Amino acid sequence: MRFEHPATFNPIDQLKVIGHPTNRIDGPLKTTGTAPYAYERHDVVPNQAYGYVVGSGIGKGEIAAIDLAAANAAPGVLAIVTAGNAGKLGKGERNVAPLLGGPEIAHYHQALAVVVAETFEQARAAAQLVRIDYARVDGKFDLAAERHRAGTPNPQIGGPADTAVGDFIAAFAAAPLQLDAHYTTPDQGHAMMEPHASIAAWDRDKLTVWTSNQMIAWGVEDMAKTLGIPRENIRLVSPYVGGGFGGKLFLRADVLLAALGARAAGRPVKVALQRPLMFNNTTHRPATIQRIRIGAERDGTITAIGHESWSGNVSGGEPEMAVSQTRLLYAGAHRMTATRLAALDLPEGNAMRAPGEASGMMALEIAIDELADKLGIDPVALRIKNDTQVDPEHPERHFSQRQLVRCLNDGAARFGWSRRNPKPGQVRDGRWLIGMGVAAAFRNNLVTKSAARVRLDGQGMVTVETDMTDIGTGSYTIIAQTVAEMMGIPLEKVAVRLGDSDFPVSCGSGGQWGGNNSTAGVYAACVKLRETITQKLGFNSEEAVFADGLVRSGNRSVPLAQAAGEGELVAEDAIEYGDLAKTYQQSTFGAHFVEVGVDADTAEISVRRMLAVCAAGRILNPKAARSQVIGAMTMGVGAALMEDLVVDKRHGLFINHDLAAYEVPVHADIPHQDMVFLDETDPISSPMKAKGVAELGICGVAAAVANAVQNATGVRVREYPITLDKLLYALQVD
Ligand code: MOS
Repeated sequence: MRFEHPATFNPIDQLKVIGHPTNRIDGPLKTTGTAPYAYERHDVVPNQAYGYVVGSGIGKGEIAAIDLAAANAAPGVLAIVTAGNAGKLGKGERNVAPLLGGPEIAHYHQALAVVVAETFEQARAAAQLVRIDYARVDGKFDLAAERHRAGTPNPQIGGPADTAVGDFIAAFAAAPLQLDAHYTTPDQGHAMMEPHASIAAWDRDKLTVWTSNQMIAWGVEDMAKTLGIPRENIRLVSPYVGGGFGGKLFLRADVLLAALGARAAGRPVKVALQRPLMFNNTTHRPATIQRIRIGAERDGTITAIGHESWSGNVSGGEPEMAVSQTRLLYAGAHRMTATRLAALDLPEGNAMRAPGEASGMMALEIAIDELADKLGIDPVALRIKNDTQVDPEHPERHFSQRQLVRCLNDGAARFGWSRRNPKPGQVRDGRWLIGMGVAAAFRNNLVTKSAARVRLDGQGMVTVETDMTDIGTGSYTIIAQTVAEMMGIPLEKVAVRLGDSDFPVSCGSGGQWGGNNSTAGVYAACVKLRETITQKLGFNSEEAVFADGLVRSGNRSVPLAQAAGEGELVAEDAIEYGDLAKTYQQSTFGAHFVEVGVDADTAEISVRRMLAVCAAGRILNPKAARSQVIGAMTMGVGAALMEDLVVDKRHGLFINHDLAAYEVPVHADIPHQDMVFLDETDPISSPMKAKGVAELGICGVAAAVANAVQNATGVRVREYPITLDKLLYALQVD
């Protein structure tokens, strides 16, 4: 089905099932610990052996010599695979550095070997006996030092590297009020709960991998290229994913090493990337240095806005598109954005929750707060004054929906923003200095093809199959809701099967596109199933009504269970998109409000209250969507106050590469969160009229925290994370 015109009334709009805060249908499996995650699938294939990964001990250079003798002789060892004996390997188009390195080494903890043994303990013990001598060469590991050699990258998914409208330089120079500031964001790790893990089994030349991956079809394609075998010979199965955040978008070393280990050992092999290996072995959100210049009239009208961003990556890697949102968020006649990429020898930087906007909003939304300070205008009012209903770089393009102003106004009223004292350092609660901060939230909405298959059986059950994944987001539930709504049956009559490359190719989980696109694909398949049913019954498909487990037309009505007859009725289709995504700018919006306390003596920062108001099209399941947003808000607090992959600039690695040293928020850090969705539908986005929320929720949070800290203390920290040492020296206490 091609979606080319704004959606009109369709069965989804009945909202009998869609739009309800349904509990997760996979909830019982999750809460009883019985949802089978990749590493736990002891039952899928017998005789599983264990692989343990050996990662590079240097950041750049070569293997001078590798001695496997002691490891090979260790108890239980079945095979050791290195680049030296793996045979010829290709590279998937989405992997920048080879997943199995050697002799050349691209980055620290790049996998150099997998040791396969009867037990995990034997594999781990033998891995310590692999002896590698390195020829180390100097690498470039310091973004600040390399920034001045950074170049202009090719256009990325986030658009061109540079944009310009009007005469930014002249307009900025002429502006009565000017802000010119630099901000930095650090490298960050996904740190999802479930590590990357795979079980691989060969049946002659056919490979099956039970794994944990967000994008099944991408994984199959890249695995086929890497192994040099046809993609029909590969099956990836990933029904449950314990978090991804972008770290599981692409094929990773566990999949490849399990497959190579299984081939070498002649039996199934399971591999999990051990947690201390993950941060350097896989991808991360790259650090940025950003410069923002804004010129304004005294009444707050922005006349010039410029945003430049520098990030680094390995050769072939992409820049962090931290300027994306600045092209769209605020009005201003004269504008420029620029993206620069420096060559670094750190592990590959890549997508992490809201790649681009999350980092960019951390800077832009402090800059707007600083401008409000200079102007003496309330930061909510300043944002409202500079709202735009069209793409400021291409004014002929309207936003399909844009309710940023309402998010800000509603949020301010609910949060008690009027109680904020604009003068910093004035409000105290005992030893705590209290402050409030605000930031806008913004993230684009992407549409992409997504397919599904639906089967109606003789019991009136509808089974839906798609390779869509559920990475903790609620895909199972919203897909079941979509089928129930379309077919007029209760949720209990729907079975959802996900995450298997045997099923039709979906949009997968990424870029907050999963919810809208995967359900739209299921919608398309259900439209086809409805046609198949009405045709079979000789009903007029225009008039037929699917409700209460029946299909009715005129005075005839037939239970769905009977419609299938003896066998099964099967329909498969995909949603595909026409030009609406080009004609309109599709984005999601929100406003974040945060109250913090800062200890006047120790500078300890405590987040006291958070509120988000979001406008993101139809909310398919308010409970699941709320969970996404409050999770994202929590991650935003991590970005503001804790998360920092610290670069060892001599040896070229992230030194705090485990969960003891890479800190993320825990329950005690997040005392009170609230969030509200505006009642909105977006007929431009898809027949579902929905958009995404999971990345919107993180965008702007860190800046709202930073702005609250400034309001509490008068100290403006422009280098994330805002750790207490950065406050302590500057804190002026009576
Ligand atoms: Mo997302 S960072 O595209 O999983």
